[in-house]
Amino acid sequence: MSRWAATLKGYDKVSKSEPQYTHAKREQTMAILTLTIDDEQVSGNDSETLLEIARQHGVDIPTLCHLDGLTDVGACRLCLVEIEGSPKLHPACATRPQEGMVVRTKTERLKRHRRTIVEMLASEGNHQCSVCIVNNHCELQNLAYEVGLNYVRFPYLYPKKRLDASHKSFIIDRNRCVLCTRCVRVCNEVEGAHVWDIANRGINCEIVSEMNQPWGTSDSCTSCGKCVLVCPTGALVEKGEAVAEMEKKTDFLKYIMTARLKREWINTQEDEE
Ligand code: SF4
Ligand code: SF4
Ligand code: FES
Repeated sequence: MSRWAATLKGYDKVSKSEPQYTHAKREQTMAILTLTIDDEQVSGNDSETLLEIARQHGVDIPTLCHLDGLTDVGACRLCLVEIEGSPKLHPACATRPQEGMVVRTKTERLKRHRRTIVEMLASEGNHQCSVCIVNNHCELQNLAYEVGLNYVRFPYLYPKKRLDASHKSFIIDRNRCVLCTRCVRVCNEVEGAHVWDIANRGINCEIVSEMNQPWGTSDSCTSCGKCVLVCPTGALVEKGEAVAEMEKKTDFLKYIMTARLKREWINTQEDEE
């Protein structure tokens, strides 16, 4: 039995009210661990997530809710991986490594799982790409190509959720929202305004501004546009853009977070080279 499986066995006895090991905590320990990802032996820091370690070693794992610079919430489940000794799938963005862990990221089970998630997201919202402002620059669309989504097995729900164009510069179309909560986190953690929240449950779950008031009436919103830039789909867009015209850039987070955490401003020219 691998050391990881032994740890897991012991963990099963832990009360459900105690923190789950899949919820990565950012303690600044610096132990270096060795683990296996897709049959390659790699090393990583125990304060990193499996996703970070995998990416450092060139292993691509699809993500949607994760964005470098924001806390991870494990919302979309696209980054699920298999861990030897565990019957469950685990979100790579919110799972910390353990010494001797054996991780697989590209099994047939995972491929089926990821395709099903993208399929459900496609059928749940109104994702008519041909009339979307971010057509060809959309992370959901890219994922659909990546998982080979050429048809959807589930009935389309054609939701009629609220569209809010009351903000002077931006629009939210909740019918294109995939509930990744990037907007909630960037506005709270980076801008410090906390305009967005999630309301309701299940199929009625939706993003709301200012405790369910129209966005345009918000006193907290600074109109910085960060939520619009990090939104992976056409749910949050800028006014005045035409179909397929808007390209979102999330690079700004890298500069802000490095400046804040390391107190250094990245040289953009060096970075581009
Ligand atoms: S524009 Fe800025 S302050 Fe306003 S909701 Fe978006 S992230 Fe928050
Ligand atoms: S509006 Fe965009 S960023 Fe916010 S939860 Fe929906 S898809 Fe994610
Ligand atoms: S990227 Fe890991 S759960 Fe969404």
